[in-house]
Amino acid sequence: MQRSYVAELAAPGHKVPVRACVDGSNPPIWLFPSIGEYPVYDDFVYDVMIKDERRTSAYAEAVRRYAPGRTVLDIGTGQDAVWALAAARAGARHVWAVEVIPKSARIARKTIEEAGFADRITVVEGLSTEIELPGPVDMCVSEIIGTLGGSEGAGPVLRDARERLVKPGGVFIPHRSATTAVALDLRGATGGELPGFPSVAFGFVEGIFAAVGRPFDLRVCLGGLQDVPEVRERSYLSGPVEVEPLEFNGDLRPEGVDRAELAFTRPGRFSGLALGMRLWVAEGGAPIDSLSEWSNWTPVYAALSEEGLPVRPGDRFVFEFTTTISDDGVHPDYALVGELHRDSAPAVPLSWSSTHHGDGFRETFFHRRLFPEA
Ligand SMILES: C[S@@+](CC[C@H](N)C(=O)[O-])C[C@H]1O[C@@H](n2cnc3c(N)ncnc32)[C@H](O)[C@@H]1O
Repeated sequence: MQRSYVAELAAPGHKVPVRACVDGSNPPIWLFPSIGEYPVYDDFVYDVMIKDERRTSAYAEAVRRYAPGRTVLDIGTGQDAVWALAAARAGARHVWAVEVIPKSARIARKTIEEAGFADRITVVEGLSTEIELPGPVDMCVSEIIGTLGGSEGAGPVLRDARERLVKPGGVFIPHRSATTAVALDLRGATGGELPGFPSVAFGFVEGIFAAVGRPFDLRVCLGGLQDVPEVRERSYLSGPVEVEPLEFNGDLRPEGVDRAELAFTRPGRFSGLALGMRLWVAEGGAPIDSLSEWSNWTPVYAALSEEGLPVRPGDRFVFEFTTTISDDGVHPDYALVGELHRDSAPAVPLSWSSTHHGDGFRETFFHRRLFPEA
């Protein structure tokens, strides 16, 4: 059983009550904001990513394969400049390592100097979409894949890199990503009570509200879903489908509408979707799959029904998933509109949307519960 309480967060101009889960109560599921699309990276976040062994070894192997003898652009090098250093060590001719967070760029520059690669790696502070290079490079490496594949802006950012910064036919690492969806029985996973944020999440929620300038209905992830296979077995009501395909070495389309259908394979109460991502770091082989294994990419919860709608095998959820780039030109807004089809009842319309920095606050039943009125 989960235990929760109401805490207070500092938002610009005022305090915001937030539902929290008791630290140390070991809830099977807890909430966490989707953080990668905001400038709230700190030592803890960079460390979790580097320690994601599957991600880190797949990137290291791809960089070792493609970097020798090439000029390289590393978009979003982070404070550890991991792929810039890996490329230089593998024999890249020169690396441009771009980072938008000033503190991370500063630390990256120092790390590169200490590693003795200052002559082969140039750190460029800024957004890749706003910088110029002396000339186009042979390859681009980046890890700006979000909890939903494109949520950190990989579509527009890498399309811009292809048009302006990389030679025609240049290699892109990663190769491909997609957003994935599975039907979920959230109460089946939590054992009853809906979850809250652990206290370690508070600073990130405050940082996101500060970056956007006000509280808003931010995107929320489900911690714990990936870690324990039995929790997935209790809560997944269907197999997965893919939407938002992003072909970084092919026909890259950052915006679009994808139609999909989830077929229920188990009885339960359908409360929403777990949205994850698949990532092919290089061409071929099995992707990293955030809905079926632990990774630093935590699945997003698309809440569709507060109480959950009873479903059984053979029922279907048919939906359209729309990706639109927000007015910052980089980060997508997402919208999902669908219908639940059951043998036993008329079709039920269900919808969810999640903007990068939209102005609604407490507009959904899920966010009203997460941020109760004082
Ligand atoms: C997920 S982290 C990856 C850090 C490191 N490359 C790694 O893989 O461990 C993404 C980093 O990219 C930066 N970033 C995201 N989009 C960027 C862009 N368009 N230009 C420059 N930096 C960007 C973020 O600030 C963050 O430091």
